[in-house]
Amino acid sequence: MIDFSKVPSPCYVIEEELLRKNLSLIRSIEERADVTIILAFKAFAAWRSFPIIREYIQHSTASSVAEARLAYEEMGNLAHTYAPAFTDQDFPLFLEYSSHITFNSLSQFNRFYPRVLASGKDIKCGLRVNPLFSVVDTGIYDPSSPGSRLGITADKLGEKLPDGITGLHMHNLCENNSYDLEKTLEVLEDKFGRLFYQISWLNLGGGHLVTHDDYDVDHLVSLLNRLKERWPHLEIILEPGSAFVWETGVLLATVEDIVESGGISTAMLNVSFACHMPDCLEMPYKPRIRGAFQEPVAGKPTYRMGGNSCLSGDFMGDWSFEQPLQVGSRIVFEDMIHYTMVKTTMFNGVSHPSIGLWGKDGMFQLYRQFGYEDYKNRMG
Ligand SMILES: Cc1ncc(COP(=O)(O)O)c(C=O)c1O
Repeated sequence: MIDFSKVPSPCYVIEEELLRKNLSLIRSIEERADVTIILAFKAFAAWRSFPIIREYIQHSTASSVAEARLAYEEMGNLAHTYAPAFTDQDFPLFLEYSSHITFNSLSQFNRFYPRVLASGKDIKCGLRVNPLFSVVDTGIYDPSSPGSRLGITADKLGEKLPDGITGLHMHNLCENNSYDLEKTLEVLEDKFGRLFYQISWLNLGGGHLVTHDDYDVDHLVSLLNRLKERWPHLEIILEPGSAFVWETGVLLATVEDIVESGGISTAMLNVSFACHMPDCLEMPYKPRIRGAFQEPVAGKPTYRMGGNSCLSGDFMGDWSFEQPLQVGSRIVFEDMIHYTMVKTTMFNGVSHPSIGLWGKDGMFQLYRQFGYEDYKNRMG
């Protein structure tokens, strides 16, 4: 258990024991299913924790030059790269830092493949395909929504893949279970299976929430084993992000004021939903607060949580507590490690929470604190 008196506020705190628990499960799936599982940096890239991650898995994805370079410098691997659109400016750097490059369209492949050849590097090239089969309810996270710009649809590919393509990539899930994957695979094989004899690797993207309590890991393993029986020549790759750090830490915040208005009490925090927990507003979802009642309870002290940016909608609510909150009360938002640090902003110049690790030795390790220079350097 984290001793919050040893942690600065605000702070994202990764718990080493919980991280290792997820990593062990992911490694066991990799071994049982004989697949390759790599970390999608877009969900989590707190690189000072990579020495722990590297004990379990060796590879990661990139969807930008910055992620590819981070993979090279801090994970010590060449990235499995996919980007919606490569640019002339960036491509030479992708060539430097990638083992695999997946193109989002045939026009991108035709434009950049000559440069892969000219580089003389052994880079595996792939195409992202889109099965156009929706299993994600939230539109903004659904790659298969009509008119999606992500991936090539089956009607655009003939019977033969272009020379130089050795793999296919699909990303269709978001916080889904193995049964959604099963349905997706049926559609994928139906629409693209004719091409599988021409490739040697198949990347099934992310969104596999294998570390969720309800996830049926045995079903996933048997599904992947059956897939391999059908296509024994294929290396199967999975690139989840969230699953690696699902429920592995918190965002610690402090109440700085309590504002009463229109019969509502708002606890004004030193963090912001808009800047530091953006998915709460985007998805949207109501985060859990440690020790609080998730829904208001009649008769108990009840508060809205107010963010510290000036955005009017930077609040969420309501939660009830056993005791009234006061200035200085600590608020612990649960499960705040995936898609938080990678998505934060410094809007309004609000202070960015520190980042640290609560080690399995019971010690807090501060990875990074942020200050004025971080804000200023982004502004010019
Ligand atoms: C191409 C691709 N791969 C992997 C992921 C990681 O997905 P998740 O973090 O939901 O597992 C994403 C997320 O958007 C993605 O777009």
